[in-house]
Amino acid sequence: MNEPYLLIVDELVARHRDQPGALLPLLHAIQEAVGHVPDAGVPSIARGLNLSRAEVHGVITYYHFFRNKPVGRHLVEVCGAESCKAVGGDALMAHAEGLLGCKSHHTRADGVVTLAPVYCLGLCAMSPAIMVDDKPYARMTTVKLDRLAAKLEIAA
Ligand code: FES
Repeated sequence: MNEPYLLIVDELVARHRDQPGALLPLLHAIQEAVGHVPDAGVPSIARGLNLSRAEVHGVITYYHFFRNKPVGRHLVEVCGAESCKAVGGDALMAHAEGLLGCKSHHTRADGVVTLAPVYCLGLCAMSPAIMVDDKPYARMTTVKLDRLAAKLEIAA
């Protein structure tokens, strides 16, 4: 792990440590700043908030939103929650895996793209939904996904 990550984590811990219920806002701030919540930052977080490492780790792993590994230059998230599943979310994920040359939960070897499931983007009325680089896309189809991947130059 790069040392600058740890410096950023330490700085954010210092900024949040006196805030009531600081853990979730702190984890969000770290992921926003670093792109993920690095495992090596957990001791600093635990020390700063007077929690055990297990408690911090438990929260990071409980919420699908938090990642403990860096992601590729583009992050493609396909909703796997009920409403999207009911209208082809699983098929869309399978299509994305083939299109991007990358399994779900993985980053492609060239580091260009990470594919991950996400659990409800709040677009259930317009399922299936995906998110690419923090931008939501509703009523997604395989054809639309092909076009988007071509535009972003992320197809395998
Ligand atoms: S279930 Fe997919 S957006 Fe809500």
